Amino acid sequence: MNRENAKIRIEELRGILEDANRRYYVENAPTISDRDFDFLMKELEALEKEWPEFDRADSPSHHVGSDLGAEDGPQKEFDQYPHRYPMLSLGNTYDIGEVEAFAQRAAKGIGNSFTYSCELKFDGTAICLTYREGRLFRALTRGDGAIGDDVTRNVRHISNIPQILSAPVGFVPTEDKPYPWPEEFEIRGEIYMPWKAFERLNEQRYADEEAPFANPRNAASGSLKLLDSKEVSNRGLECTLYHVLGENLPFTTHDQALSAAASWGLPVSDKRRICRSVEEIEEFIKYWDTERKTLPFATDGIVLKVNEIPYQKELGYTAKFPRWAVAYKFKAEQALTPLLSIDYQVGRTGAVTPVANLEPVLLSGTIVKRASLHNEDQMRLLDVRIGDYVYVEKGGEIIPKITAVELSKRPADARLPLFPAVCPDCGTPLVRDEQEAKAFCPNQTGCPTQIQARLVHFLSRKAMNVIAGDATVLQMYNLGLVRTPADFYSLDKAKLLCLEGWKEKSADRFLKSLQESVNVPFEKVLFALGIRYVGEATAKSVAAHFGSMEAVAAASLEDLLSVEDVGEVIAQSIYDFFRNPLNVTMVERLREAGLQMSARKSQGPVSDVLSGKTIVISGNFSISRDDMKKLIASNGGRNSGSVSGKTDFLLAGEKPGPEKIRKAEALGVRIISETEFMELLGPQGLAEAKPDEPAEPQERAGDTPDEPVGPREGEQLSLF
Ligand code: IVH
Repeated sequence: MNRENAKIRIEELRGILEDANRRYYVENAPTISDRDFDFLMKELEALEKEWPEFDRADSPSHHVGSDLGAEDGPQKEFDQYPHRYPMLSLGNTYDIGEVEAFAQRAAKGIGNSFTYSCELKFDGTAICLTYREGRLFRALTRGDGAIGDDVTRNVRHISNIPQILSAPVGFVPTEDKPYPWPEEFEIRGEIYMPWKAFERLNEQRYADEEAPFANPRNAASGSLKLLDSKEVSNRGLECTLYHVLGENLPFTTHDQALSAAASWGLPVSDKRRICRSVEEIEEFIKYWDTERKTLPFATDGIVLKVNEIPYQKELGYTAKFPRWAVAYKFKAEQALTPLLSIDYQVGRTGAVTPVANLEPVLLSGTIVKRASLHNEDQMRLLDVRIGDYVYVEKGGEIIPKITAVELSKRPADARLPLFPAVCPDCGTPLVRDEQEAKAFCPNQTGCPTQIQARLVHFLSRKAMNVIAGDATVLQMYNLGLVRTPADFYSLDKAKLLCLEGWKEKSADRFLKSLQESVNVPFEKVLFALGIRYVGEATAKSVAAHFGSMEAVAAASLEDLLSVEDVGEVIAQSIYDFFRNPLNVTMVERLREAGLQMSARKSQGPVSDVLSGKTIVISGNFSISRDDMKKLIASNGGRNSGSVSGKTDFLLAGEKPGPEKIRKAEALGVRIISETEFMELLGPQGLAEAKPDEPAEPQERAGDTPDEPVGPREGEQLSLF
């Protein structure tokens, strides 16, 4: 490669890798495989070495990807703290020869005999926990390696992370040594989502028409950054810890440190081994390359670490990696199994997806029976036949995907599948959506599967939240009781009692839940309508933008396009929906049934008392923190996650974070109590702002308890 081409390629690689890092760490939605990423990174490193004049300190080859600010919500909600010790990544290889080379380099560097700690490489998201006097003090993400996001609040909802350590049986406290652990230490590891929890989460997301997570790693890191801590407990996250750090720790080997941590109740994997030679390391790798398939969580390789801490110190670190450890990565897990038949499934929006029925096979800890073939083009590309042996891999989708066909095993009687020309449910000729390469059944109002799926969607948890299973909806449909969502509101007890197995009690429960659904906010009603491409987030922005169903229905394409995140396809879909008289009638009937057809007043500003003010909140209030934030926003104020020179005041509830108080005091930021704040808003500011939920205790972000901050004597309530 000549100089100019090298320069171009280096720039190109940096662009691809920076983008991939952002998608992986910040958006939790990777676009390239780990393997491709690693290979592109190696290419960049080699080119920068060959052409040092093009090397730059800010190249992705010299820093770890950053997760700072990655979260589900639009605001940066996490405080950030510096890491006491840089939080680095690991050098990795797919080549067993390079593992040998690593061992040789380490041996040369050390010069003495030493051992290796061989461990599983957990495929999750890195976490750094600090324990002070045996209590969990703070949990930071890796962030950019130097500063991490404070996710302590969420980590407290991960069940296998102890809040308080426990002394091993037989430990006798003395004055010198009141507890077995160091007064303060850090322990790093991985937060991961076991396969079962991952599948459950994706099924839910699929049902709610939210994009599924590509893999358990992304699901874990997305969940760790949820703004609602309570939701974190529902996600089934787990933790495993693999690196103890601190000042003057009493361990000479890494293995001793991990065993001690395990004896204090910390989750440390027992699937590790001390190896003395490259042969033993290779044995370990070989064993786990197969055995990992039976584990209930994802592993993507093994990690090899020099076990003796003084030797680790001797070998030290590069800017990105320790020189005393390396990761060997496994190839993506695949299974080979016969393809028995193909179903063509019609979804809520009419899209027809080919789904392969497979001879059941074990893949990454679960039995796989079905796999997606995506669309007709993909089927052709794979050249797949019924009876073929196919390779399945777990990808981003809810069900695994077929990645290739084993042509050498093709049976003589393998049959070419025929993509249907008509809808398998209603017989309507399918149309092809070129943009999505998908076939659609255009019979939106007559195709039973589409109607049923829309009815199920309408009642679902994230839409109208009415208690009714899919089977109930199907029963209602089959008896001709419901055809459109509006029909639900015409059901009465007599009709419901016609349903098989329904008694007074079930009918009452359903009717009560239906009645309650009239209070479901407008944005959810809009989502419940099941307009194609309008997911939860889009419905939210469209509802906020237009404020009422009437305004959405009357909006021109241009108006719709002015909504953030609404592109041409979505705009057209919303526009078309409200031009269909059947939909207009249905929406009218829903209005008559009393559903919310406009945003509650509390969603818009109710006063401008806080206009232009930046406010940080800390501690517990008489209303939930979310509601407090809404209250601030509805009075024209801006919420911020951390105290800075730009903060106008710190609103301190009960037990505010001492760090925030200290910072506010240091910067001369005014601290006010909830009472002062409420008085400041006055009756007008509080009038319309009805918090959605009752107050509930909130946990603080890892600070030690402090005195609650109350109103200060003699202070005036007028703040500005
Ligand atoms: S040791 C300085 N041990 O893999 C030592 N890391 O791809 C750093 N990981 O950044 C890490 N399992 O997030 C270590 N047994 C293990 C691990 C492990 C998973 C993660 C970790 C690291 C990443 C590198």
